[in-house]
Amino acid sequence: MSNITKICRKINSFEKTINVSGDKSLSIRWVLFSSMGNGKSKAFNLLLSEDVLAAINAVKKLGIKVNINKKYCTIFGNGPSGYKYKKNITINAQNSGTLGRLIMGILIDAPYKIKIVGDKSLSKRDFSRIANPLKKFGAKIKLTNKGLPLTICGNKNLKPIKYLENRGSAQCKSSVIFAGLKTLGKSFIKAKKSRNHTELLCKHLKLPIKIKKTKNYDLIEIKKAKKINPLTNYKIPSDISSGAFFIVLTALSDNSKLLIKNVNINPSRIGIITILKRMGVNIKFKNKQNYKGEVTADILVKSSKKLKAINCPSKFNSQAIDEFLIIFLIAAKANGVSYFKDIGELDQKESPRLKWGSKILNKMGIKTITTDSSIKIFGNPDLKINKKIVIKNYLNDHRVFMTSVIAALAFGGTWDIYDKDSIKTSFPTFLNIINDLRK
Ligand code: S3P
Repeated sequence: MSNITKICRKINSFEKTINVSGDKSLSIRWVLFSSMGNGKSKAFNLLLSEDVLAAINAVKKLGIKVNINKKYCTIFGNGPSGYKYKKNITINAQNSGTLGRLIMGILIDAPYKIKIVGDKSLSKRDFSRIANPLKKFGAKIKLTNKGLPLTICGNKNLKPIKYLENRGSAQCKSSVIFAGLKTLGKSFIKAKKSRNHTELLCKHLKLPIKIKKTKNYDLIEIKKAKKINPLTNYKIPSDISSGAFFIVLTALSDNSKLLIKNVNINPSRIGIITILKRMGVNIKFKNKQNYKGEVTADILVKSSKKLKAINCPSKFNSQAIDEFLIIFLIAAKANGVSYFKDIGELDQKESPRLKWGSKILNKMGIKTITTDSSIKIFGNPDLKINKKIVIKNYLNDHRVFMTSVIAALAFGGTWDIYDKDSIKTSFPTFLNIINDLRK
């Protein structure tokens, strides 16, 4: 089957209710916590995408039994020190930075050298940012040019550390939390605000973690966990990062309305909502609920006629870090020049998203000015595309693919978008939902 999606007309107006798939960050964390739980964990609506399956395969390699059926997934943990380590284990994190980095924190007590490899995109990404703090606990880590393949060997006599996480990286923070949970004594993290699912799961599981919130940083204290309760009957809420594509499609389409059911609206993840509301998009939360420490809601979004440019405050960046590509499409149609600054981290993702996001906008006829860490987008409220656009060789980045599909459906033109398979990373049902909306 061809790996190209061809789109040659705008989408007609639609009014629908949809479900997007389970939250990727929570799914990976559920797998990792459950693999260290004392007993049987069970999750519903686990995202069965390649990133999460890579996490499942990783814990299986470490001797953990996992069962998946159509309705749920069960993991049989043997406690925080219950992995069956063998010599010469290789873990393939595939495309997943979250898996690659989080599991390193868990392997901090591995008695043998473990090799971590990944795909072409992941191998280029920076693992020194997490190797450095983990080495201070006492782990031995060898990287290839700051990235993968790497080897990690743990230590029996781990020392607690003090760590300043200054990038707003939830992956680094979470990895150090896992290492802290395996280390006697008190570890401290001063972490710039970022998604806090790991901390919320620790609290839900009553693990020894204390958090003090200040304006820009969280001060986290972690102690060794003797036992981890299994995560039973966990219903993973839907992923706002997947919902984001449909929020933007609805906002950019005429006379359309969409309800996205049961989405995780954890405050550390809803930067896209705050930003789009400021740009004039009509979005509401309905049926808000607390769920095991997280917050969920249905998201109602309507076509938005008058879109305004934004000078986006940097404080929203970490809450919207995976959504900038799709937010740029709203800026493309907004009245005025939008400015997004301090977003250099985008070039550290599955592909250099700041550079390539700008390139895609230029292909669409939108002027941009970019620096290493910022972009100005000159919006055109009358934007209509009448030409052929080819999106190819973008390192198989799932979010580049999905953003391009939304641009084609919202603005028209004739598009050949390569790397359809990339959606398997995070959102395998993306094109099914698109087809449903096009009916
Ligand atoms: C994630 C954290 C973010 C995000 C990634 C998922 C997580 O990465 O971009 O898609 O689940 O912890 P960083 O921590 O590198 O910012």
